[in-house]
Amino acid sequence: MTTPSYPCPYCAAPFGSHEALKAHVVAGHGAEPLPKPHGLIALTVNGERHEHTVEPNTTLYTLIHDRMGLTGAKMFCDRGACGSCTVIMDGRPVLSCMTLAIECDGKTVETIEGVAAAKHPLIETYVKHHCMQCGYCTPGFVVTAKALLDKNPDPTEEEIREALAGNLCRCGTYPQHPRAVTEAAGLLQGGRHEKG
Ligand code: FES
Ligand code: FES
Repeated sequence: MTTPSYPCPYCAAPFGSHEALKAHVVAGHGAEPLPKPHGLIALTVNGERHEHTVEPNTTLYTLIHDRMGLTGAKMFCDRGACGSCTVIMDGRPVLSCMTLAIECDGKTVETIEGVAAAKHPLIETYVKHHCMQCGYCTPGFVVTAKALLDKNPDPTEEEIREALAGNLCRCGTYPQHPRAVTEAAGLLQGGRHEKG
């Protein structure tokens, strides 16, 4: 006997397919919302709502990069060690290579494309302070810094370094980042900390 894969969420009756389950809910629980197919998630990415059916092992990185064409987040280590794949989820920086897409149902995600489209001052200050050489790590740094400034609009250098501690740069651009983040903080606060 096979285990039924589609139990009714209202009466626990088992069904062999999502279609059969839907027909049962319509017939027997007409007032209730239809259950979603397995793996269907809805999330908001850069202000737009998306629905995708994902496998249990699909990562958030695969979803945004391969399916949505948002190629700004970079795959470097694929093991949660470098921060180059960072995106913001519900206000917190997360490693998209280590986050399962199925966990993102109902979440709000912001990628480097969204940060750039919003013309966040970090984009300008990262260029001004030459925070990149090859640039592969840069989207991860910018997104992590953006999450920091959303939470802490006037961070100290130590707080900036701590926030960016999980982002690695093989080109050694580390001294530039606090300068760019501090200046972006100043620009966001109306130029109070702006440096020439
Ligand atoms: S690619 Fe995700 S942490 Fe390195
Ligand atoms: S700029 Fe090359 S890895 Fe950071």
